[in-house]
Amino acid sequence: MITNLVEYKQQYRESNLEPEEFWTKQASTLLWKKKWDRVLEFDFYKPEVKWFIGGKLNITENCIDRHLTARAHQTAILWESNDPSEPSRKITYQQLSVEVNRAANMLKANGIQKGDRVCIYMPMVPETAFALLACARVGAVHSVVFAGFSAGSLVDRINDSNCKMVLTADGAYRGDKRIDLKSIVDEALKKCPSVDKCIVLNRTNLSVSMQPVRDLWWHEEIRKTSDVCVAEEMDAEDLLFILYTSGSTGKPKGMVHTCGGYAVYTNYTFKNVFQYKEGQTFWCTADVGWITGHSYIIYGPLSAGATTLMFEGVPSWPDMGRFWHVIEKHKVNIFYTAPTAIRSLEKAPLSFVEKYDLSSLQVLGSVGEPINEEAWHWYDKNIGKGNCPIVDTWWQTETGGIMISPLAGITKTKPAFATLPLPGVQPAIMDEAGNEIEGNNVEGRLTIKFPWPSMARTIYGDHQRFKDTYFSTFPGKYFTGDGCKRDEDGYYRITGRVDDIIIVSGHNMGTAEIESAIDEHSAVCESAVVGFPHDIKGQGVYAFVVTYDPVHEPIHLRNEIKDVVSKIIGPIAKPDKIQFVSGLPKTRSGKIMRRILRKVAEGETSNLGDTTTLLDPAIVEEIKKGAIS
Ligand code: PRX
Repeated sequence: MITNLVEYKQQYRESNLEPEEFWTKQASTLLWKKKWDRVLEFDFYKPEVKWFIGGKLNITENCIDRHLTARAHQTAILWESNDPSEPSRKITYQQLSVEVNRAANMLKANGIQKGDRVCIYMPMVPETAFALLACARVGAVHSVVFAGFSAGSLVDRINDSNCKMVLTADGAYRGDKRIDLKSIVDEALKKCPSVDKCIVLNRTNLSVSMQPVRDLWWHEEIRKTSDVCVAEEMDAEDLLFILYTSGSTGKPKGMVHTCGGYAVYTNYTFKNVFQYKEGQTFWCTADVGWITGHSYIIYGPLSAGATTLMFEGVPSWPDMGRFWHVIEKHKVNIFYTAPTAIRSLEKAPLSFVEKYDLSSLQVLGSVGEPINEEAWHWYDKNIGKGNCPIVDTWWQTETGGIMISPLAGITKTKPAFATLPLPGVQPAIMDEAGNEIEGNNVEGRLTIKFPWPSMARTIYGDHQRFKDTYFSTFPGKYFTGDGCKRDEDGYYRITGRVDDIIIVSGHNMGTAEIESAIDEHSAVCESAVVGFPHDIKGQGVYAFVVTYDPVHEPIHLRNEIKDVVSKIIGPIAKPDKIQFVSGLPKTRSGKIMRRILRKVAEGETSNLGDTTTLLDPAIVEEIKKGAIS
């Protein structure tokens, strides 16, 4: 583990000069069933990347079995319910072993074999962690879908990877709401011919319809199983999971992560970035449905033998002090959340924070979007009490683990800067012409020019799209889709997406996907979606909508459009603002000039740049006049 800045610099240098030796050392701290023959093979032009070739392991032996001698009775998963009056659950490593082995046997008994895809659509309860690990134990590929997505989104994801089974629950609690997960799954499964089994956890005692043969209760199936399931021997490059992320065009991309490199990298980054110390309680507030949950609720912390806190609820319920209450209650040492949560909690009276004892905190983290300086300072002062280093961690679903970040207490932090690349990460800033911009005090597009172990290997079923999206803009380099600056100290500051992806409350969304959902409304002829700066969400969704007929009841139609989006994608994609327009600004070749729409959405109406190439420049005046502030 890196313990000071000199060691960081040494490791960084070593990882660049001798990457294979460097990663050999890191990988050797894990448990392998067979050691690898070669460390790395790659070709960023093809693209193809393989790590720890010939190595065999099972990530669950790293997350569970190897801890059973030293920490069988230590809490592995500490669960806090949505409802503060419901008792917490503490699952020791020993119990985790029993639960995961049983769940693994339950999968096998229901026909799941190595390589099969299993969709997990579940609430934030320990059984969801068991489900992921059970898949990994038997070598099935999990595809977790965030339980806030609609039936339509679930259908797309299940069918794209031909899942054989769905693991779900009757319902999910989220604040004062209850979401009927099973009925969403029922609707989805009408269109998913590959699914032959659906196992349902009873979380909310909802009465649900169970389709004979297909649908089974989790508690009944688990009862039949033994607690011994030998971990499948997985090749380092076998698939561990698929996780969907929005693309700037087209349907979501199923990012493929493999067993060996992902295990090594999430373990290494968890320990070093957060400077995890034996016995600490770590709380990542993400949902397991996102990559942050995969890497830093489940695999990273458990492979390091940590106590990982899993929270079912939301920060605002029963009141705006819930996070701080949970920190006090469980004496959380490391707290990792998203800027959007910080910004919303910052708006609440400080008394919600001051009521609680936060003195257990030692390290704070931020992830998912740029953190503005004001939120950074509020977090530092009021939550960290000026005593906790903040790690602003930049990474992506595609990168599998944290890429650019301070090491807690080691790297000098600077508000809003993700600071320095981790060992093994070689960023390059590119100009639009495709040249690398060397030196400091520069700005451009962020690429990574050398492989790291947890990088996605492909897009499930569409390698060409993988190449086109990530390796074609700057041949020979992985293109992140983000813009960034490097300052006089060589520190990186991520400035945001440079493509048509917007980040709303830390969730990555493709504008094209939202547009096609809006266009499903029968009154809508076409639409264009852009992001706009939003106080709490970071970015909000601004939709410009052209209707077939004049709009007589705008409020009603706006609500209908929001409902359509909510139904097709999920509530997180609902537009915040909908402006009805008679046309969109298009070039003569028919391309929408989003630059203009972005400016209007940002409230800029004077300096819209060159509009002479537009087919109908008059439309801009109309759009400016009707802009929603
Ligand atoms: O734009 C960057 C932003 O989130 C994008 C990745 O989103 P997703 O795949 O959903 O993963 C989010 C959690 C890892 C990035 O391309 N992003 C993520 N972290 C930061 C960030 N932007 C600025 N600062 C960060 N710390």
